[in-house]
Amino acid sequence: MKILIKNGRIVTASEDYIADLYIENGTIAGIGRSLEVQNPHRVIDASGKFIFPGGIDPHVHLDMPFMGTFSSDNYETGTTAALHGGTTTLIDFVLQTQGKSLRNALNEWQMRSNDNCYCDYSFHMAVTDFNDSTRLEIREMIEDEGITSFKTFMAYKGALMIDDRQMVGLMEEVKKQGGMVTVHATNGDMIDYLVSKFKAEGKTAPLYHYLSQPEVTESEATGRFADLARYTGVPAYVVHMTCEGALNQVRSAARLNQKVYAETCIQYLVLDASLYEQNFDGAKWVMSPPLRQKKDQEALWAGIQQGAVQVVATDHCPFKWEQKKMGLQDFSKIPNGHPAIEHRMELLFSEGVMKNRISLNKFVEVSSTNAARLFGMYPRKGTIGIGSDADLVIFDPERKHTISVAKHHMNVDYSAYEGWELTGKCELVLLRGEIAVENGQMQLSKGFGQFIRRNKVTGIA
Ligand code: URP
Ligand code: ZN
Ligand code: ZN
Repeated sequence: MKILIKNGRIVTASEDYIADLYIENGTIAGIGRSLEVQNPHRVIDASGKFIFPGGIDPHVHLDMPFMGTFSSDNYETGTTAALHGGTTTLIDFVLQTQGKSLRNALNEWQMRSNDNCYCDYSFHMAVTDFNDSTRLEIREMIEDEGITSFKTFMAYKGALMIDDRQMVGLMEEVKKQGGMVTVHATNGDMIDYLVSKFKAEGKTAPLYHYLSQPEVTESEATGRFADLARYTGVPAYVVHMTCEGALNQVRSAARLNQKVYAETCIQYLVLDASLYEQNFDGAKWVMSPPLRQKKDQEALWAGIQQGAVQVVATDHCPFKWEQKKMGLQDFSKIPNGHPAIEHRMELLFSEGVMKNRISLNKFVEVSSTNAARLFGMYPRKGTIGIGSDADLVIFDPERKHTISVAKHHMNVDYSAYEGWELTGKCELVLLRGEIAVENGQMQLSKGFGQFIRRNKVTGIA
């Protein structure tokens, strides 16, 4: 397929210019003024539109067994929704079952994802049981499978949490093999204590989910993780960072010349904890860590501006209302997570770029380029350059639209952003040179999405 895109405003993490873009065999073959191409299959006029590299969301949970149920988007619906919102590549999490191997978990996740994806995807491997045999599998995951990042949980005690002994062992091995350790950094023991205390006092509403994970649980764990990473020398990445206290720990590490990469998620930038001050409706936003305060939003926007926060993801982990109601009598049984995969890019543009909180280049950097660099996909993904995959978003910066459950493609029966009015819309999305979404319609077939084997971690220069 040969496609010529004329007169678009091409925006990467470092550039911003008007040019034509020529795509052949799935990759970008030419960029220039007034490009002449023989017999293109299609010419697209992008005058007045931005052309961004396809979004990369490195934190999603599709069809994931969790808290006695499964996240409600499977690989088919989740990757469809991703493409509608301009995300062309996502990274999902394989969860090791305690007592079983990493390979066993990977097989399970491959069974659910193989041939079911519309957009490109990769996996992080979540290590929930680090022991002598797990140690031997780290190299195999990196070398044989192209899975180069290893997720750890310092919370979800009794389910996914590992202790510091396992953490240090894992960090040493991952460092040796050239990978990255990522973390859900909250203090699982303290949260466990507070959950039990509130329940014993008969406090069962969603608000107590928030109150059982105060900021200190996150700042303490982030600092501990950063310290262990410094000791072992492993490249380290904190997922879904929500608050000023945790950001300050990352800044402290930077003062010691240590680089701890940080991801926040769109919800922590635009929503706050006042949403828990209502009845059970607050369950829509029960996620871990919980939403925080306005002062934390300000801190995170500043962290993005200053380069202390490199990535804006979603932690997309949707549950239908019936599933959320599992916690009607007990907040600790509400499945944790919320739906956002479809709205990340448009929310970030509307709330970030249009409100002058971030520049256009920063928008591209944190929604695409940095994730590609950090997770070993750059420059195939995450930029617009000769030879890169033609994963592109043609974006209308002026189009206004309203988010609603009635319109979204995620498999969930409410929207966490119902009625939000946004400026800027993904108009046409391409994946590896094929039209993926046009006029709000999916144009690809299921299974087009490829598993992306990732390179060893080089970080961001
Ligand atoms: O609430 C959340 N974040 N659910 C998904 C699992 C996790 O901790 O990322
Ligand atoms: Zn988490
Ligand atoms: Zn997550």
